[in-house]
Amino acid sequence: MRKQFYLTTPIYYVNDVPHIGHAYTTVAADILARFNRLKGKDVFFLTGTDEHGQKVEKAAALSRLTPKEHADKMVENFKNLWEKLNISNDAFIRTTDDKHIEVVRNILGKLYDKGEIEKRPYSGWYCTPDERFWTEKEIIDNKCPECGRAVERIEEENYFFFMSKYRERLINYINNNPDFILPETRRNEVLGFLKSQNLGDLCISRPKKRLSWGIPLPFDENFVTYVWFDALLNYYSATMYLAPEGNSSDYWPAGHHLVGKDILTTHAVYWSTMLMALDMPLPKNIFAHGWWTVEGQKMSKSLGNVVDPFKIINTYGSDAFRYFLVREVTFGLDGDFSEKAIIGRINSDLANDLGNLVSRGISMLGKYFNGIVPEPEGVEDEIRDLSENRILQMEEGLAGLSFEKSLNALWEIISYLNKYIDNNKPWVLAKDEADRGRLSTVIYTVIEGLRFVAIYMYPFMPHSAKILYKAITGKSEIKGIHLEEALKWGGLKSGTEIKEKLQLFPRIDTRKKETKTDMMMKDSPVNKERQVKEDGTAGEYIDIRDFSKVKLKTGKILSAERVEGSNKLIKLSVDTGEPRQIVAGIGKNYEPETLVGKTIVVVANLKPARLMGVESQGMLLAASDNNSLSIITPESEVTPGSSVG
Ligand code: MSP
Repeated sequence: MRKQFYLTTPIYYVNDVPHIGHAYTTVAADILARFNRLKGKDVFFLTGTDEHGQKVEKAAALSRLTPKEHADKMVENFKNLWEKLNISNDAFIRTTDDKHIEVVRNILGKLYDKGEIEKRPYSGWYCTPDERFWTEKEIIDNKCPECGRAVERIEEENYFFFMSKYRERLINYINNNPDFILPETRRNEVLGFLKSQNLGDLCISRPKKRLSWGIPLPFDENFVTYVWFDALLNYYSATMYLAPEGNSSDYWPAGHHLVGKDILTTHAVYWSTMLMALDMPLPKNIFAHGWWTVEGQKMSKSLGNVVDPFKIINTYGSDAFRYFLVREVTFGLDGDFSEKAIIGRINSDLANDLGNLVSRGISMLGKYFNGIVPEPEGVEDEIRDLSENRILQMEEGLAGLSFEKSLNALWEIISYLNKYIDNNKPWVLAKDEADRGRLSTVIYTVIEGLRFVAIYMYPFMPHSAKILYKAITGKSEIKGIHLEEALKWGGLKSGTEIKEKLQLFPRIDTRKKETKTDMMMKDSPVNKERQVKEDGTAGEYIDIRDFSKVKLKTGKILSAERVEGSNKLIKLSVDTGEPRQIVAGIGKNYEPETLVGKTIVVVANLKPARLMGVESQGMLLAASDNNSLSIITPESEVTPGSSVG
């Protein structure tokens, strides 16, 4: 029987920094990956970044970087977050990887040769920010029905994939494979979509003149491929060069693609029909989870309520965050984030139930047996059976992506042990020497129970699980254990010494916590950039403190020359009290030699950036309208380095 277990997250766009939604899918996938590794499967857990397309090209332009430079920078945010969240992905794919590009081009060529792609004249209403065409019927007052921004009429030739011809086959496939799209409500939505509309063909190209940041079509280099066509293929291309052991395509088809509900159609319809055209097997399951709202509101940049996962981890720890994400909401449904909710979960489930059990158990062992695990008089059948058997419930839960059900299995053990302590009252037994034997059994049972707790909690809260497991067994790793053996009651040897005092999840005192922690990304520079509206205004007032952050100085231009390969960029050497190099996009309006000797105004504390590989230490101010651009100069002569403001 096939032992491979291949699961994926979406590959995230590098146009922005990661938020709670990205963390959500990746944590869910990590739990599945860790559990299946414990079960002895060959796991291939893939995540990565989607780096082509207009969104990324635009974001890069805003940061004054090339798309690749921008992607190289942004990808680190995702990698850092996965490290902080203890994500155990086996590989990280970037769609700018040479090997991925090669696979995409091969597949495009194959589909073209098979007659699955053709070039057609095309006209439609195009929403540039969303990178989407709309039909006449769909647009509302010449605006995009999705984002409300103006659409433009575009007439051009493009390449189309014959998606429509797979409609019937896909409907039948979905009907015959009930686990293919989950949850069931989402499957019905996809079926509804397929049945109610005439599925069109998929426009899979963009002319290079409109979008250059993409993979060129192998059969027509004047076009690049549509970002989704490139992105979806990552799931397959990764098996060719990133899979563990042998880098073969043995891992295809994937077991689970975890995605958010908004990208289900692209996966269930575009991806499935692409695979059908390639005569390749479809993934076993595509699971669409719900979306997080924030205190009842849609999470959005403009509302300034985008939840920053780094801030949550720094405040509450990665395990608490991981637990919260999968416990708070049934996977598949929408959920609401609030700081109150996460504190509630920490205090009731983690501090009260789990943390308390651990600290009580271990401190009683210290108090009554000097930290040495006693020899029990016998086995407590009930807790033994519970501990040994709940793994089946956990497995069943995780197979159906019910994190709730699998966590309930763990919590049954935790609750049982807490009650067991309360009922057996070790503090009373400890008073009478005649009860020493019974006390030994009770304390052994609790500590052995904790060993099971550590194993069960490992996929969900790996960091705390490892601390607990190490304290009890002396072994620092859970991931390599042989599950069947480890889950046999009695594995803990009497005589083992446990010296550590553990307080895994301290209670958060809400009375002492006077102010709400800021969990939002308001301060993120990327967010600020995004708050800038299309017309270039910030969309809100700034106060004087904001303005005073900008250090403006006068500078005298000492020399000027064009940046090689660019007709726009001029490299200036400027005296602003100290020498600095500035690269300015004024090459279409000024000849370098006319600039020398001019006094200009410079943003002196702007983070240095590289433009076409040349460092720019600041920016000059210029006024521009549609036709001309004019640099700002002081009215009369001032010393270089004078402050402006
Ligand atoms: N690049 C594409 C995916 C290509 S996969 C072949 C993409 N990237 S994304 O970065 O914009 O979004 C990634 C995921 O974030 C999606 O699964 C989306 O559902 C999820 N979320 C975005 N906002 C979310 C919430 N508010 N809540 C939960 N998940 C959310 O789409």
